[in-house]
Amino acid sequence: MTSFAFIVHPVEPQRDVARKFPLLGRLPPSVVDFGSRFFPPVRLAHITGIRSEATGQEIEGWLLACPLTPKQMLQAPLSTAYDKIVQTGHLAERLGARLLGLGAFTSVVGDAGVTISNRLSIPVTTGHSYTVALTMEAVHEAAKRMNIELTDCSAAIVGASGSLGKACSHLLARNVPRLILIGRHRDRLQAVQHLVESFGTQAVVATDLAALSEADLVVAVSSATVPIIKPEHLKRGAIVCDVARPPSVHPEVRRVRTDVLLIDGGVAAVPGEMNLGFDIGLPPGTVYGCMAETMILTLEGRYECFTLGKELSLQRIDEIAQLARKHGFHLSNLYSLGKNLTPEMIARVKQKAHQALYVKI
Ligand SMILES: NC(=O)c1ccc[n+]([C@@H]2O[C@H](COP(=O)([O-])OP(=O)(O)OC[C@H]3O[C@@H](n4cnc5c(N)ncnc54)[C@H](OP(=O)(O)O)[C@@H]3O)[C@@H](O)[C@H]2O)c1
Repeated sequence: MTSFAFIVHPVEPQRDVARKFPLLGRLPPSVVDFGSRFFPPVRLAHITGIRSEATGQEIEGWLLACPLTPKQMLQAPLSTAYDKIVQTGHLAERLGARLLGLGAFTSVVGDAGVTISNRLSIPVTTGHSYTVALTMEAVHEAAKRMNIELTDCSAAIVGASGSLGKACSHLLARNVPRLILIGRHRDRLQAVQHLVESFGTQAVVATDLAALSEADLVVAVSSATVPIIKPEHLKRGAIVCDVARPPSVHPEVRRVRTDVLLIDGGVAAVPGEMNLGFDIGLPPGTVYGCMAETMILTLEGRYECFTLGKELSLQRIDEIAQLARKHGFHLSNLYSLGKNLTPEMIARVKQKAHQALYVKI
């Protein structure tokens, strides 16, 4: 049977390590963080039951762990991160995978997969194209459910100068009249500003998250290793789509800002009776967009480096979305911190948003 492999890594070290090694998960976070560096790559699970709705073909896959935390990926010398990811890629080769997908920070470090792909004999994809396609679908769906017209919105992208951020800014510029581009480096943001303004969309840049107070819609795609979006940053009644892993939105937002609709971005429903064989923290039958891209390409027999590097192609984003529909992948239900978003939850958010307005007046 045709197989793929997908690399993940501990995003929240203690919790994620405990999912595979319960005893190791009891160690203090700093020990887990430091010690994981000396661990070899781990075969986490055998994935079965993914079946194309177009062809009936079934594929299998391997979920592999690269034992580096986000902090280590960004702070260790780049060569250390590359070596660990490539070592995990070699495990995929030995297992017979025809395509390798890079998850979370394994697709963020350095040149976003280019060097890793050059050092492996199987093709590699970051999955970012389908992640962006799903994020846009999720944003449109959430706006519809909140009765918000995107054509009246100010939208902010946190991490706008990054790989996902640039593509999301580009696509949102087609729908919203005003964009707030947020990141750490003004010069990088200005390059994106020039691009979106060339479509006639007004754009401002900001390096301070206080700029979020004007945003009706927030797409969080930053590579920050800790949550940076806090309750005090957000506008009343805003929709916040958090695609970042680890999440960019602070857990307090959910508790304190009941007037804000917080949704998990980039989650796909998979056709067939998928058994992931491991808890990745998502509802059954769903995976992150980047993993879904690897599955879609495998079902299509496209064993190629479909998405590599920091610059995404809008044409590829459209193409993978079409291939996804063909094989039966689609945007999952909307989830908020892993919980299904029900009409009652949305009604409560709307009610709180109106109450907050009343109190403010
Ligand atoms: N859900 C999914 O399926 C999925 C798939 C792929 C990736 N992801 C996640 O998406 C995120 C972005 O990935 P990427 O490849 O686009 O990363 P990237 O190319 O490295 O871009 C990261 C962006 O975040 C900004 N940033 C970093 N730290 C920040 C901070 N403290 N405050 C404000 N902005 C900050 C950077 O700004 P500067 O350039 O100014 O430093 C840059 O704009 C990551 O968390 C990744 O794990 C999720």
